[in-house]
Amino acid sequence: MGLIPNAIIDAVIDRTDIAAVVGRYVQLKKAGRNFKALCPFHREKTPSFVVNPDKQIFHCFGCGAGGNAIAFIMRQERLEFPHAVRFLADQYGISIPDTTSEAESPSRQLRDSIYRVNELTVDFFHQLLLTSRLDAAKAAREYLKGRGVALETVNQFKLGFAPDDWEALSEFLKTKGISDDLMQQAGLVIARENKRGFYDRFRNRVIFPIFDIQARPIAFGARALKDAEGAKYINSPETPVYTKGRHLYGFHLTKAAVGKLDYAIVVEGYMDMIMPFVHGVENIAASLGTALTPEQINLIRRFTPNVVMLFDTDLAGQNAIVRSLDLLVDAGMNVRVATLSDGQDPDSFIRLHGVRAFEERLSKAASLFDFKLAWLKTQHDVKSIEGKARVSKQMLETIMRFSDEVVKSELIKKLSEDLNIDKDAVLRQSKPFKSRAESSPQQPMAVVPATVALSLKDEIFLGILLSDPQWAPKARDEITPEDFPHPLVRTVVAGIWELSGRGQEWTGQDVLKNIKDHQAQELVARLMSRDEAWLGDKDIVFKDCVAGFRKKRWHVQKEEQKRSGDFESAVDIIRKIKQ
Ligand code: UTP
Ligand code: MN
Repeated sequence: MGLIPNAIIDAVIDRTDIAAVVGRYVQLKKAGRNFKALCPFHREKTPSFVVNPDKQIFHCFGCGAGGNAIAFIMRQERLEFPHAVRFLADQYGISIPDTTSEAESPSRQLRDSIYRVNELTVDFFHQLLLTSRLDAAKAAREYLKGRGVALETVNQFKLGFAPDDWEALSEFLKTKGISDDLMQQAGLVIARENKRGFYDRFRNRVIFPIFDIQARPIAFGARALKDAEGAKYINSPETPVYTKGRHLYGFHLTKAAVGKLDYAIVVEGYMDMIMPFVHGVENIAASLGTALTPEQINLIRRFTPNVVMLFDTDLAGQNAIVRSLDLLVDAGMNVRVATLSDGQDPDSFIRLHGVRAFEERLSKAASLFDFKLAWLKTQHDVKSIEGKARVSKQMLETIMRFSDEVVKSELIKKLSEDLNIDKDAVLRQSKPFKSRAESSPQQPMAVVPATVALSLKDEIFLGILLSDPQWAPKARDEITPEDFPHPLVRTVVAGIWELSGRGQEWTGQDVLKNIKDHQAQELVARLMSRDEAWLGDKDIVFKDCVAGFRKKRWHVQKEEQKRSGDFESAVDIIRKIKQ
């Protein structure tokens, strides 16, 4: 992604409203001129997260997170700066004229068109499910009702119904000016064999739209109403916006909770994600099909390093887990495996036993080691020597992927004890295995320390500067960023001096834009979020601060001169200090 011009960043900040941006993710409550909310970035019971629409900033007094709308999106959507700017620009219709980016390329245009066609399709099917008088639509409503799907859920997931008709969707899309070619590229229609024209791919089925992490509709799953009618699910083919195994069903609704609760529950199917979610399990997503792919793991890793796998108890499900485990370990993820009763999947289990029992199963999830060992024991006879050797060998394939040598050696010890074999023999067996690729996995996002400890004087000084730009020229000649021992204060002062030196008007917002370090941004947002009363009588306090900094500098100079033997100048300075 090319560099984004400053004018665009300005436009994004000017055209977005922080309350609207944040309000899409958290429930804001009016509190005076500000809004309060439960912080989306850490767990809390009483709200300490404040949005200030006047200053266009947010700040959490609990965890220290803070900044402007771009900083919020970076944190919330786990995006790098340029991606966060583009994300906001997309949502607010601000075009980013960057010829080097993919923005204007045909493939980007095609992708945008497909999103639009998919959106029309989502709405078309959704409306039919909600309102159509067709008998088949009634049957679809009955079907969902029978599965315990409420109207609210239908709306939340934009579930739909595709009528039993070869051209219902294509006729509708035609009226919206969509070409056959585009419909085909979106995977919605199929070319007739030996004839001209196309027919609808999805017919007489309940429709589950699939959204990407940014909530754009990218594909569809379509379930037969009766189990005998062909494949249970028909899914979209791959298209320019949809690659199988790259997305997680439902994750656009749950990623924030995954980050906040710091783990993700991964299930297999559409309904396995939907039903626990509507029962209040917020941090869940579905892999749609078989094992987790490296792309799906990367998606989760943006939000948490912790995964609980919860797949069907059938052989296919358990096999899929086993295949996912090594990939998860390779990615440096912590993984546990939960199991349900035989013959149950998450959807049926939670409807039968309720959310309490479901959560209990999660809390009892087995470690990767225990799960794989138990599973292998069902596959091999560990009473026989060959059986032991096979189990041991397959366990080692996973164990050797851990990067931590202590973990590795402990697991080998545990394995040899469990199988009652000689640890050295296991170790010798481990030789053919390489530990996982040298490249260390990308670390999960660092946890930012709550608030930075810095002196009250520094804070007040910055607070006054940020409260009114007129203060800056009064201190700029005398005080330099280097006068401050704290690196963040230096960064902020340097940013302010730079702005003030331009001779134009500026605000705290400009300071936020001008400094790139996000901890420094958080400091600025924190100071700007306070009631100005804490600054006291600004005139007196400011003079006192400046005098204090001046004095401190003289002291440093005095010491330096003493050390270099220049006592005359030192005495001079002492006189100045006394004055
Ligand atoms: P399952 O066979 O476990 O079905 O497939 P399910 O999710 O329990 O479906 P319901 O509850 O009967 O409606 C798990 C997942 O595998 C994919 C779907 O994503 C499904 O949710 N699948 C399954 C298909 O894509 N096509 C199929 O024919 C079957
Ligand atoms: Mn099911």
